[in-house]
Amino acid sequence: MKMPPEWKMLEAGDISAVCAVAGWLHTALPERAEVFAEKLRLFPDGGRKLVAGEKLVGYGFAHPWLLAAAPKLDTLLEALPAHPACLYIHDVAILPEARGYGAAGGYVASMEALALSLRLWQLTLVSVYGTAPLWAKYGFKPVSFGLPLASYGPGAAYMYRELVSPDQKR
Ligand SMILES: CC(C)(COP(=O)(O)OP(=O)(O)OC[C@H]1O[C@@H](n2cnc3c(N)ncnc32)[C@H](O)[C@@H]1OP(=O)(O)O)[C@@H](O)C(=O)NCCC(=O)NCCS
Repeated sequence: MKMPPEWKMLEAGDISAVCAVAGWLHTALPERAEVFAEKLRLFPDGGRKLVAGEKLVGYGFAHPWLLAAAPKLDTLLEALPAHPACLYIHDVAILPEARGYGAAGGYVASMEALALSLRLWQLTLVSVYGTAPLWAKYGFKPVSFGLPLASYGPGAAYMYRELVSPDQKR
């Protein structure tokens, strides 16, 4: 039986492999290597690579951000906000050969744990390529703030998921 791919921490040396995956999957929404590298430098905890054997077959980037705000694609952030309100999932991309294991859900689960550890009570993202039903499966809801999402392509939707800390559950 084929082993499911595993999420590991992303490192600066992985950026060229990330760009290869992004170049394959995001032909319509290209981002420069320096944009990925900056995200990892500003917030290394949000970077993950999906590996099958030795091969990088997917990646995820996330960073603290403001609510009702989506950074423009292929644009440097310069800095993270001093008072973030959410953990923003910038991108999750998985090569076709590694799909079907629910790996995007695994990335969301690790970002939920990370957000809670930072006392950030929302996960946010911009869904592209009609993936809103997939994100809805993981608890994200669309919300229209009238954001300028043109750089994300047609049909892009801002989505958020409220998080509940273990204390709040009691
Ligand atoms: C989106 C993506 C990361 C999901 O990969 P994955 O976690 O391996 O997804 P899986 O194949 O395991 O599917 C998980 C579930 O989501 C559903 N799903 C997968 N892709 C979907 C899509 N594009 N739209 C709607 N539902 C989708 C599957 O049917 C499955 O549902 P089920 O558990 O009820 O059967 C991957 O398809 C990808 O990299 N796509 C291209 C890049 C992309 O769109 N990234 C998201 C940017 S917002």
